[in-house]
Amino acid sequence: MTTITLRNLRKEFDDVVAVNGLDLTVRDGEFLVVVGPSGCGKSTTLRLLAGLETATDGEIRMDDRDVTHTEPKDRNVAMVFQNYALYPHMTGRRNITFGMNATDSFADEEIDRRVAEAAETLDITDLLDRKPQAMSGGERQRVALGRAIVRDPDAFLMDEPLSNLDAKLRIQMRAELTRLHAELGTTTVYVTHDQTEAMTLGERVVVMDDGRIQQVDPPQALYDFPTNRFVAEFIGDPAMNMIDVAVEDGVAVHDGFRIPLPSGKTVDGTDGEWLDGTEAEALADPDAGDRPTAVLGIRPEDLYPARDRPDLGETTFDATVEVTEPLGDSLLVHCSVGDATFKMGAEPRSSLEPGGTVSVTYDPARLHLFAPETGEAFYHSATAPAPAGRIDATTND
Ligand SMILES: Nc1ncnc2c1ncn2[C@@H]1O[C@H](COP(=O)(O)OP(=O)(O)OP(=O)(O)O)[C@@H](O)[C@H]1O
Ligand SMILES: [Mg+2]
Repeated sequence: MTTITLRNLRKEFDDVVAVNGLDLTVRDGEFLVVVGPSGCGKSTTLRLLAGLETATDGEIRMDDRDVTHTEPKDRNVAMVFQNYALYPHMTGRRNITFGMNATDSFADEEIDRRVAEAAETLDITDLLDRKPQAMSGGERQRVALGRAIVRDPDAFLMDEPLSNLDAKLRIQMRAELTRLHAELGTTTVYVTHDQTEAMTLGERVVVMDDGRIQQVDPPQALYDFPTNRFVAEFIGDPAMNMIDVAVEDGVAVHDGFRIPLPSGKTVDGTDGEWLDGTEAEALADPDAGDRPTAVLGIRPEDLYPARDRPDLGETTFDATVEVTEPLGDSLLVHCSVGDATFKMGAEPRSSLEPGGTVSVTYDPARLHLFAPETGEAFYHSATAPAPAGRIDATTND
């Protein structure tokens, strides 16, 4: 069992800052997912943890050991890559055990026992005598996992291990990884650019952008209380709508609508304090003259045609239907109101036609305000407190 602590971890390649000062604690036995767009520094972070890259600055600790400058083999971590990295001329069994005897640290019987156990766990006993070319992608990936498991490492480091699999197999392997983690309880850092994978697998999720941590939280807290526009737009599909508004007398005002801001919650500044809409106004951009401005965030799934949700209250506004996209289980409606555009989820068989007008309502408990300049969230209307375990990226240990 192992806790991994990163302190101001930094990696530069020539003129690229790949990892720009990470502070993070991966808890003992935790399944932590790191998610972010291509090039944001996920793989570099993982390779630093594995010892495959040397940190430019900062510190990596595993429990109370400083491993920042130790060799990969002295860290007792096992890495699983996207491309399986199996030897084509070796059987599944040889691929799993390769290198283990060489170190003389395992007796043959011990190795056999571990392989049998891992094969059972992963349901690959039948594959042990086959070579990789006679295995499917999912089977190869399980053999690669087997290789990681038999080493009984202090931590698993996984870099997009499922991205070469087709969609169906990915969903199946996702469930298997969750089960495997419940069984082994090994500290795991899992890198992906797929937000669905991050949300379904992670006990906590680290959202990275541009070499920096944006937010660390359990999945639901990321979705409900995004700390800034980047996280708000990265987590959730389709992305959260963002509309420029003025905030006046506790109301988000736009040419096409007036949305009262209920009592809500701030994340930063007056951290965790409840505030009403008028107080939110005070936090909007004070330099915008007598009309403090903010960016109003509402997810497409929190907007509804008013006739479908009379229970949500009387505040509605009219919008023009621009395009409709049938998604099978819902209809995604692209709308415009004044100079703004937004997307709304509707019942799959709604009779909404482009060019028509739709009366729109919204869930008043699902509004967000962001500062126009910095993109920081300063108000969430959600009245439920953040789920237990919500922790700031900077103070998460
Ligand atoms: N060996 C290297 N030499 C120079 N630059 C590098 C090297 N490895 C990574 N980089 C740069 O560092 C940045 C982060 O790369 P990294 O591979 O960590 O991204 P990533 O988040 O894993 O992206 P992806 O989702 O595409 O795998 C990128 O700008 C990349 O070009
Ligand atoms: Mg990568």
